Amino acid sequence: MYILAFESSCDETACAVCEMSDEGRIVKSNIIASQVDTHALYGGVVPEIASRAHIEVISKITYEALDTAGVTLDQIDAIAVTNGPGLIGALLVAVNFAKSLAFANNIPLVPVDHIKGHIAGNYITHQELKPPFLALVVSGGHTSFFDVKSYTELDEIGSTLDDAAGECFDKIGRVMGLPYPGGYAMDMLARKGDKNAIKFPSPSINDTLNLSFSGLKTAVINYINTARQRGEELCEADIASSFTKTVVEAISSKIGLALAKTGYDKVVIAGGVSANSHLRERILEECKKFGAEFYAPDLKLCGDNAVMIGAQGYYEFLAGARADESLNAYPS
Ligand code: KG4
Ligand code: ZN
Repeated sequence: MYILAFESSCDETACAVCEMSDEGRIVKSNIIASQVDTHALYGGVVPEIASRAHIEVISKITYEALDTAGVTLDQIDAIAVTNGPGLIGALLVAVNFAKSLAFANNIPLVPVDHIKGHIAGNYITHQELKPPFLALVVSGGHTSFFDVKSYTELDEIGSTLDDAAGECFDKIGRVMGLPYPGGYAMDMLARKGDKNAIKFPSPSINDTLNLSFSGLKTAVINYINTARQRGEELCEADIASSFTKTVVEAISSKIGLALAKTGYDKVVIAGGVSANSHLRERILEECKKFGAEFYAPDLKLCGDNAVMIGAQGYYEFLAGARADESLNAYPS
């Protein structure tokens, strides 16, 4: 079946066509209109600007997604849309657009949770992947471990108690003057530094699956500001490398505990920060240590996109999820 999917929870307006069946999961088109350059001027996502920018491009990218896929609207079997969590004004753009399109054309409408969508990106990259498994979602808004019981049911078994890992990468990147958002630039810079040069406090909360990144974020920013005030020369690569190591070690140190808790032998990572090369390498090592299989999405499916929403939408559709005209968006 053909699914037309929409995503507008933050600063990417995305539309995709996926051809989904028991035999295969095929991406027919994957269109993303990014607002990164606009928000870069402010050093972070400005919600009001994000909503307006979604409205400006959503029709255009829908035509583009259908044209690229070579599919017409009357061939679409279901429309999937992210309805939360995310920025409320941003979410409402795709929710209302999808709603209008679905009801005007008599196409079933399927609401999709953004976090489940991130995990589902892996069903596209790894055609053989099936639940149950342990999932780690690390993005700009989330850092959580999930017991993924089926395609549509998951339980959060641990999470950050404050900031998300991606937020920490971006805020520190901003103080260091790295290109916005800081995650990718930090990943590259960390390759050039000494990861043992500076000792930062660990975000790990011992013997639990919880983390706390706000202390680490403050410690790194204080380190940079203090050195600047003293007129000391900063080795930015060492800071990036030591900070990244601290984040990666804290997250990967939880893999063994999470596997023991769930009894699974598969680990799936997802979300924007799952593109981080250091995190991927380190979690793979942990998986080898515990005899677990490791799955990560293709790099182009790590950040926000609509393909992942189409993939999850397919399983929600099979489970009977349908939205009516009252479908709303939820922020958290
Ligand atoms: O999943 P995503 O696109 O949006 C949310 O749902 O939050 O994640 C965006 C986050 C940003 O914080 C960005 O800096 C981070 O993912 N990111 C990375 C890398 N690529 C993107 N963080 C670390 N290393 C990367 N290579
Ligand atoms: Zn996301």
